[in-house]
Amino acid sequence: MIGEVKNICCIGAGYVGGPTMAVMAYKCPDIKFNVVDSNPIRIEKWNDEDLSNLPIYEPGLKKIIKKCRNKNLYFSLDVEKHIKEANIIFISVNTPIKTTGIGAGKASDLKWVEVSARQISKYAKGTTIVVEKSTLPVKTAETIKQILDTESNNLYSHNSKKFTVLSNPEFLSEGNAINDLLSPDRVLIGGDDKSSINTLASIYKKWVSKEKIITTNLWSSELSKLISNAFLAQRVSSINSITALCEETGAHIQDVSLAVGLDKRIGEKFLEAGPGFGGSCFKKDILNLVYICDYYGLHEVSKYWNSVVEINEWQQKRISQIILKKLFGTIAGKKIVILGFSFKANTNDTRNSPSINICKKLIEEGANLIIYDPKVTIKQIQDELGCNLNINNKKNSDFEGNWSFCKSLNDAFLKADAVVIMTEWSEFKDLDFEIMSRDMRKPAWIFDARGIINISKAKLYDLNLWSVGNGMINNDNLKNKF
Ligand code: UDX
Ligand code: ADP
Repeated sequence: MIGEVKNICCIGAGYVGGPTMAVMAYKCPDIKFNVVDSNPIRIEKWNDEDLSNLPIYEPGLKKIIKKCRNKNLYFSLDVEKHIKEANIIFISVNTPIKTTGIGAGKASDLKWVEVSARQISKYAKGTTIVVEKSTLPVKTAETIKQILDTESNNLYSHNSKKFTVLSNPEFLSEGNAINDLLSPDRVLIGGDDKSSINTLASIYKKWVSKEKIITTNLWSSELSKLISNAFLAQRVSSINSITALCEETGAHIQDVSLAVGLDKRIGEKFLEAGPGFGGSCFKKDILNLVYICDYYGLHEVSKYWNSVVEINEWQQKRISQIILKKLFGTIAGKKIVILGFSFKANTNDTRNSPSINICKKLIEEGANLIIYDPKVTIKQIQDELGCNLNINNKKNSDFEGNWSFCKSLNDAFLKADAVVIMTEWSEFKDLDFEIMSRDMRKPAWIFDARGIINISKAKLYDLNLWSVGNGMINNDNLKNKF
């Protein structure tokens, strides 16, 4: 039994831990929150005086950090100290897909979770509630429990330690995380220990109505998280699979989405066609589901879910091939402007961004890419594309592609053969077609992989347009010319 909660620690100051603790601190001024991370650069950025240097971009985050930081919200490298002080510890560390060993390419790599559990078992004092916050494959809480239990059962330990483990998955969508945290659709708490569940629920009850707080056992909670993401990803893959059919037949995907989404049983959300889903969760969660199904011999189920990931990758391949085909089958040495590198608008997160696959394919074909994104840094692009090439550097051959980073759109279009819209940032919805048609090399192309540009406006200029789920847009202006 834990008394009044005075001190909460979160291991991992990333896209989940940072915003989640910030909102909790904002809503619970009487509790002290310490967010710890082993990465000194991340912690330094969270503590930067200049709030535009926060390590993650999330609308509304700066305001909350300004209000709470160094009052009841602290960012620190001192993992040991803050574990010792805490009544509740959230584990919010990264769980990427394993690249080697058993389950490589499907199962999550739990090494950071394991390290965190070992740190907790070593340093925690008294009774501690450990909350699993990262997306984890089903039954990981059991692993955490086992590690923690070894310490509490240790006869030689002088501290009497007691741990309970809860699963409290995050359902925040990047770019909208602060709103999602302030007014969640639901809060899910899974566990066996009623008293610990009530303690955590009482914290959320400070701003979330009790009907929205659902309690389940550990496994239902973990599985629900995977399945929610799998269902959302499935909708994106379903609508994206229809884009190709629309392009062939003359239907418009936006009309189809609208008509389908107005059916109350289906609903309007997650029907926006695009270059495929990205982000840290969808692919990982579906692959975890695939792995679990295979483990239990449910191969048909695993194949079914795996196809959601396959369609996603197919969409990126398809779009790259369309770009290549429209540019006369060769893009070697051609200048292509990429608008958007984050996996969606309003975030600087690039994990699994569809831009990565498409840029790689275009570079492979020899294109010179100019990449622009309002929030992503050159370093992030270097990490993802695995090279730091400058367009002015000498290349080994004309067929070797290249990329360079562009800070502002002012001169980006000069002599460009094509512009590819990859992310739905609002500034790309209203591009200056006059400048584009003046500066680009003819025949100039716009490939709108998000279907966001104003087609009737763009058609007034000497530009060729292709839009996802609409295909090639006839340009009346061009027709008159030739
Ligand atoms: C997701 C879940 O929404 C969230 O609940 C979970 O906790 C974490 O994973 P996130 O990855 O931040 O959140 O983004 P989300 O808004 O779900 O978008 C995922 C991807 O799907 C993005 O690449 C987005 O561009 C794409 N998408 C989404 C579409 O292509 N079309 C849509 O209609 C919606
Ligand atoms: P997410 O999107 O799940 O928040 P991130 O990669 O953005 O994932 O953040 C996870 C953070 O957890 C990283 O900043 C990483 O340095 C941190 N981390 C991982 N393991 C540990 C650990 N054992 N102790 C402290 N911090 C950790």
